[in-house]
Amino acid sequence: MAIEKEHVKVWDAPVRLFHWALVIAVALAFLSSEEDSALNRWHVMAGWVAGILIVFRLIWGFVGGEHSRFSDFVRPSRVASHIAGLTGGRAEPSLGHNPLGAVSVVVLLALVAATVWTGAFGGEWAEELHETIAWTLLAMVGLHVAAVILMSVLERENLARAMVTGRKNGHRHPDAADARPPTVAGIVIAIAAIAATVLGILRYDPQAFTPRSTEAFEHRGGTVGSSLEENEGVRGD
Ligand code: HEM
Ligand code: HEM
Repeated sequence: MAIEKEHVKVWDAPVRLFHWALVIAVALAFLSSEEDSALNRWHVMAGWVAGILIVFRLIWGFVGGEHSRFSDFVRPSRVASHIAGLTGGRAEPSLGHNPLGAVSVVVLLALVAATVWTGAFGGEWAEELHETIAWTLLAMVGLHVAAVILMSVLERENLARAMVTGRKNGHRHPDAADARPPTVAGIVIAIAAIAATVLGILRYDPQAFTPRSTEAFEHRGGTVGSSLEENEGVRGD
């Protein structure tokens, strides 16, 4: 007979911190995006923070704890049978991301990355694109939250709470073992990647973490692919 535990550990602390920090950074980026918003001078900074978080998550997908790894949940071949199960009224509770949830994870990460990329490196030609991708991201976030609520009802498990505590109900997962935690080497690699990303951002945009309007960012050099060196000549305008 399987030994039932009260709780099963699912999400490691870094992935939980990543998720809620991303929610705050993306929400702030949206709330501050209009040029006449009182929060506008926080837009670029919030966007860069979202970028750092995405780089962390990509690395963590290879070196993180068990259910944070892409190999644990990116399994496109299971999506069809999962949807068939759902439409047949069967919602198999899964410990990590379920196959459909995994698709939305990848889409959300890609959309945040594309929004940050076009905002940071796109220049004037990409303004429309930056905005369009950002609104697509917002629509996906709406779908994501709706899916989390729906799956919480179907699986009779509060998934948002699990993203806070890291644990799921042991009685609903009787045979499940606690997730393998991340290794020390993985944590060191992730910290090094974050540090390298911050340095890279500061080389490209020395005022990345200083409050400044989006207009000031747009005029910091202007041209597509402009680098720090190119910008220096036009500074002081
Ligand atoms: C700007 C808003 C949001 C963004 C960009 C976002 C993005 C993401 C991403 C990328 C993941 C994958 C986690 C990982 O493995 O790295 C995720 C998972 C998750 N998010 Fe969000 N999220 C947002 C808002 C929310 C909100 C408001 C809730 C609360 C209802 C929520 C609840 C969850 C839950 C429960 C999971 C885990 C899903 C599962 O059990 O498979 N998210 N989210
Ligand atoms: C998840 C991150 C981000 C989101 C959700 C986001 C969203 C948006 C939105 C919706 C607008 C249009 C505002 C309007 O209606 O006028 C905008 C504008 C802008 N964003 Fe972002 N942004 C993000 C990241 C960034 C980053 C990383 C940068 C630069 C490093 C940036 C720079 C700008 C600039 C300069 C504008 C004004 C010009 C334009 O419309 O392109 N954004 N952003």
